[in-house]
Amino acid sequence: MALSTNFFNEDTIHGKVKRFMYMRHLQAFVPITQQSRLRTLIYDAFAGPGRYGENWPDAIEELGSPLIALRVVIEDFIKRKRLEFSFNRLRNVNSDIGKYERYVQKVMKTFRKRSQKSIIMPDLETDVILNFSEADEDNYFELFLNVIHVFKFYGIAYKRSCDPCGVITVRSSDTAFPIGCNIALSEFKHTFLPDCGDKSRLMTFIDPFGFSDMPMSHVQNFFGQGKEVLITFMSSFLNRFKKLEKNKITVIELFGFDDEYSSSSSSSSLSSSSSSSGSYDSQYHKLLKDSKEMDGITRCTQFYENQLMRRANSDMVLTFEIRDSRNIRRFHLIFITNHQKGLETMKEAMNRGTQSPEGLSLSEYMILRKGIPLSLVNIQNNELVAETIFNEFKGKENVPISQIKHFILLDTPFVFRKKALTILQKEKNPRLIKVVNENNEHPRRRWSFPDGTEWLLTFRDRDENITATVSCLLLVSLLVCLTVLFSTR
Ligand SMILES: C[S@@+](CC[C@H](N)C(=O)[O-])C[C@H]1O[C@@H](n2cnc3c(N)ncnc32)[C@H](O)[C@@H]1O
Repeated sequence: MALSTNFFNEDTIHGKVKRFMYMRHLQAFVPITQQSRLRTLIYDAFAGPGRYGENWPDAIEELGSPLIALRVVIEDFIKRKRLEFSFNRLRNVNSDIGKYERYVQKVMKTFRKRSQKSIIMPDLETDVILNFSEADEDNYFELFLNVIHVFKFYGIAYKRSCDPCGVITVRSSDTAFPIGCNIALSEFKHTFLPDCGDKSRLMTFIDPFGFSDMPMSHVQNFFGQGKEVLITFMSSFLNRFKKLEKNKITVIELFGFDDEYSSSSSSSSLSSSSSSSGSYDSQYHKLLKDSKEMDGITRCTQFYENQLMRRANSDMVLTFEIRDSRNIRRFHLIFITNHQKGLETMKEAMNRGTQSPEGLSLSEYMILRKGIPLSLVNIQNNELVAETIFNEFKGKENVPISQIKHFILLDTPFVFRKKALTILQKEKNPRLIKVVNENNEHPRRRWSFPDGTEWLLTFRDRDENITATVSCLLLVSLLVCLTVLFSTR
């Protein structure tokens, strides 16, 4: 408890980075899901109290992750419905703290008599549901109060209740804001969300202190169809062989080696010598060996990424490396989704211009994707994207446009823009030479790629512009040489 209490007294720059990325992603995820008439589900598995220190900052990313989510959702309703509400932290909100304290104490007392497991029940009347789990009692209580504060700061009426699992719900009773928050005093691995069906989209944030409380067997419940996860992977904690060796059981559970080879995934089965332990031991020893022989942080992160991809049956994983101003790797943020739209949203979120620049000092950290620092501002050079596309697909015929998009989103630091394709088409010697649909028909308008059709693109097999430039340069050099030769005679 002491660690987490101190942790929230003062914010850190690398903490801000991940919350900033989380906020940006939510600022895209919330409107997209709401406009598509889907239920928006957000789950913050290691929530914390929602605030750093005693202040109530105006900049959203300065808050803790649960309140970031709440404010992003409220602000989205305000923006889309053109409402008059605004965040006013000067409203008097402290008058009834004692009442809430007694309420939470009563809840916790009843709850402790029951099982540890927390199941958050679906609330099918609410458009946006925010779910939080927090294992520390003080943080849980503070989070409950802080959620109420945010509702009050915006002047949104709410009701609170507690379900039989001990999950407190704070729900807006203002029809303009169909929002509910469920706050569970429970450990992540004991918290379960119901499946809300294909009319919902779930975004989960897993942001632990280390790596001991996030077994793969539980993490995998939060990805799959309609679900995506952002994970703070404390790769720097796994950098030493000794650490991996000392934390064998935790490491095996973290990577999910246990339930791949054993029918039971509980830690007790790991401590006992089961017949299958040889198999997960071999995976574990491979990780140890690899991490000893090469860069441990990179190897562990790659190993984890691969485990996620295999479990999710998806290659749509984006890993961001966060370094501090001394170029030291602090942690990785790993995003996994099953849907290209999720990938696009995350990439776009990273490319959008900084929305509240006063909140962050961009020079104090670096976010890298595939070793290339992201700029976080909308300054993508589409000429460069065009070159990248051509280098990858030159000489290829009938490449589906979705494949090009997939490549740009997953294998480059860029976002996909049709403009890059137009550049290749409009050149004097176009490098993109044919665009047709499956019936061999061209788009109606030149240089366009209307949505909804899987356009098939054919690229020239070499860069004739470069060839032309090189030939030109050779010719000029030849002329210069001849001139020099004749003038010296
Ligand atoms: C790194 S902090 C989270 C910070 C928060 N996401 C933010 O951005 O403000 C981790 C939090 O998880 C809580 N915690 C620790 N172990 C937990 C567990 N097993 N399940 C749920 N919460 C846990 C800690 O008390 C702490 O508040």
